[in-house]
Amino acid sequence: MSQFSYLNGSLHAEQVPLTDIAEQIGTPCYVYSRAALEHQWNTLDQAFGDHEHLICYAVKANSNLAVLNVLARLGSGFDIVSAGELRRVIMAGGDPAKVVLSGVAKSRAELEYVIENQIRCINVESIAELERIEEVAAAAGTTAKIALRVNPDVDAQTHPYIATGLEQSKFGVPMQDALATYQRAEELQHIEIFSIACHIGSQITNLAPYKDAVNRVLELVSQLSDIGISIQQLDLGGGLGIDYQGESPPTAEAYVNTLIDTTRASGINLPIAIEPGRYIAGNAGVLLTTVEYLKHNSSKNFAVVDAGMNDLLRPSLYHAYHEIVNVKEHPENKPSVYDVVGPVCESADVLGYDRHLSVQADDLLAVMSTGAYAFAMASNYNSRVRPPEIMVDGNDMHIVRRRETLEELMQAEAVLP
Ligand code: LLP
Repeated sequence: MSQFSYLNGSLHAEQVPLTDIAEQIGTPCYVYSRAALEHQWNTLDQAFGDHEHLICYAVKANSNLAVLNVLARLGSGFDIVSAGELRRVIMAGGDPAKVVLSGVAKSRAELEYVIENQIRCINVESIAELERIEEVAAAAGTTAKIALRVNPDVDAQTHPYIATGLEQSKFGVPMQDALATYQRAEELQHIEIFSIACHIGSQITNLAPYKDAVNRVLELVSQLSDIGISIQQLDLGGGLGIDYQGESPPTAEAYVNTLIDTTRASGINLPIAIEPGRYIAGNAGVLLTTVEYLKHNSSKNFAVVDAGMNDLLRPSLYHAYHEIVNVKEHPENKPSVYDVVGPVCESADVLGYDRHLSVQADDLLAVMSTGAYAFAMASNYNSRVRPPEIMVDGNDMHIVRRRETLEELMQAEAVLP
């Protein structure tokens, strides 16, 4: 069930017409639905039934404070990749005891900050990092709870830029080094072994790679148990895909059942943590943009819009497909084929190729499925201010980030004396 649907020929977010938001706020502008975020989180939570679990929303997907706050109110945990993300979680009312830290290059300062805040678990990616955590925890006079993030070497069958579980990837500890790394962890005084973690990639639309990865992780859990190292939680990462273009990803229920059934089938019954980002936020947001001009040459029609690759990078970086629709339906007009292009001075600044649209200058368009990895990856390229973010809640709209100003863009800079 989508929270973005047409009512009387006009696209709404929950009960609010998107035309109202564009009129009040201007474009480009991101619009999120609180109900959509909550619905997605709840489907995962309910799918676990009475199996002990923790949903750690991947903050990187959409780190707006209001988004984090809506999820924190549901009792969510969080998966973070930086001190900055922990700061946001705390600001938004999240509980550090439900936070896991991932990332390949955790700095000393970052480790100090997360250890001081006593987060739930640090997912470790190398022996060198383990030694650094030991040092930082010792200096703080405490112990740090860790998981080893192992690299199960499975093909997630997704875009190469977002596959992370293959042997050649920079992420995780290779399976063959995992036992020795856990043994090293056991020797360290200020490290407490808590969990085992893996994450194989993102926008995964097939359950087989999950099953393979979980089986490899479980094999390791039993090898660890044989040498007297006990694991208290499985962190099975994120990655569940969403429907951008008619994909049929597994349901939350099918996904969670695969995780639980695979685990139980091996006789291991541990609490499970997952780190979903896109599944929760992806279809909970749209990007509103206005057509500035229509332009034609001998081979193409262009709809030149006011949102560009600095606002939404996914199409340029991953050739990602986002549906683009008219906010006000024009059923009487015959559509033409357009490339929807932005204002940025790059040929890659295309939000969508060959789209069938019936548009005129000044029309309002919605770029769909832009709740995840959209604003979060926005930049100021071309000295463009980043767009505002609005959260709709029933009949109400809230500005959860106002539009940046040009002054803010330059305030950290200085000219020579
Ligand atoms: N956990 C870890 C350790 C991760 O690296 C990621 C995503 C997640 C969880 C969340 O994955 P999700 O459930 O959202 O698939 N910018 C790319 C996606 C990069 C994903 C990076 N890691 C995109 O726009 O498609």
